[in-house]
Amino acid sequence: MKVCFASHNANKVKELNEMVPDHISILGLEELGIKEDIEESGKTLEENSLIKARYVFEKHKIPVIADDSGLVVHALNGEPGVYSARYAGPEKNDDMNMDLLLKNLETVSDRSAAFQTVISYIDESGQLNQFKGEIQGKIIDVKKGNNGFGYDPIFQPIGYEGTFAELSSDLKNRISHRARAVHKLLEYLRQEL
Ligand code: IMP
Repeated sequence: MKVCFASHNANKVKELNEMVPDHISILGLEELGIKEDIEESGKTLEENSLIKARYVFEKHKIPVIADDSGLVVHALNGEPGVYSARYAGPEKNDDMNMDLLLKNLETVSDRSAAFQTVISYIDESGQLNQFKGEIQGKIIDVKKGNNGFGYDPIFQPIGYEGTFAELSSDLKNRISHRARAVHKLLEYLRQEL
């Protein structure tokens, strides 16, 4: 059974392909001939992942998985949230994003935050299911560590000494928001497909 993962990132597509049961084959956007970026115009992770899933489903009528992630900082009313990638501007620059976040938190004592992922899955009949993964933590004052991407150097998950950028990628990939959402999706797919 063919299922699209609405991503242009071949690594992400390959990774998911290795995680799903053998009778499911994951196709990326390129393999469906979708070259354009799908506009993420939603105001929530739920909306954005749904927009991406629906775009592909309308075109190809095959089951689709789409994800959207972000960093939610409680003292900033959930910012940068859905705007995490472009918080400091359209350049989508990780360092600029972290610098802006640290500046906005300069005088803030509540540093609690969470990474969240929402996966939308539309099945062959058009029915939607959404799966949410989250990891709680705090934003530290200075960047630490060289692994990972995005806000990893300033995010320290609860129960761990280091930031996401100081943890091994193996460990991060086991406890992350994305891993938790994917786990819920896989449980569902194993039962349904
Ligand atoms: P995406 O939806 O997975 O593309 O994530 C959107 C943005 O959220 C990324 O560009 C990062 O800025 C941030 N983000 C999502 N997941 C992570 C993570 O695991 N570590 C650090 N930043 C992340």
